[in-house]
Amino acid sequence: MNQTPVAPLSVLGEVMEQLPRGAFLTVKHKNRVNTMTIGWGLAGVVWSKPVLTVLVRPGRHTFKLIEQAPDFTVSVPLKGTLAKELGYCGSHSGSAVDKIAECGFTLATAEDCHSPFLAFPGLHFACKTMLRAPLNPDLMDPSIASVYPQKDYHTFYHGEVIGAWRLEE
Ligand SMILES: Cc1cc2nc3c(=O)[nH]c(=O)nc-3n(C[C@H](O)[C@H](O)[C@H](O)COP(=O)(O)O)c2cc1C
Repeated sequence: MNQTPVAPLSVLGEVMEQLPRGAFLTVKHKNRVNTMTIGWGLAGVVWSKPVLTVLVRPGRHTFKLIEQAPDFTVSVPLKGTLAKELGYCGSHSGSAVDKIAECGFTLATAEDCHSPFLAFPGLHFACKTMLRAPLNPDLMDPSIASVYPQKDYHTFYHGEVIGAWRLEE
């Protein structure tokens, strides 16, 4: 597979178009790797760095890993590919199954990033966690309270994008 570096902010249109359909958030802590589907996220410039932000609820297996890991990766399929895998990784927990093996994903490593990314054709981002920010419900507009009937508020993980690539067959 061809791996070409990209300027992260130059591909945001493609990322944001796909995001509501799903992307993969992959985290490795010690020797445990897990991936889960995400549908929400932010991207922009903070601290004069390109930053990707992912949101994870506390009940996810991913939460246990990302709370302790130094980094995470985001892998974005393009053109409606991997819909079945997005569904699977968004409905099964890494606490019960090895989703990476079940989906037949190959892992790729990125320099200076402990977490690997999923080596499929698409866009891939290696992110160093700069800030963990649990949502404070006291500061939240009441109109979004309905997103949290269980009070399982997301934590926002702001990651500096330290590498971004387009993979093509
Ligand atoms: C399209 C889609 C988008 C999702 N987006 C998120 C998200 O942004 N944050 C989150 O915490 N869970 C999200 N989920 C739910 C998790 O992917 C799901 O609970 C998953 O099984 C968690 O896996 P884990 O326990 O291995 O971490 C989404 C699920 C789907 C299907």
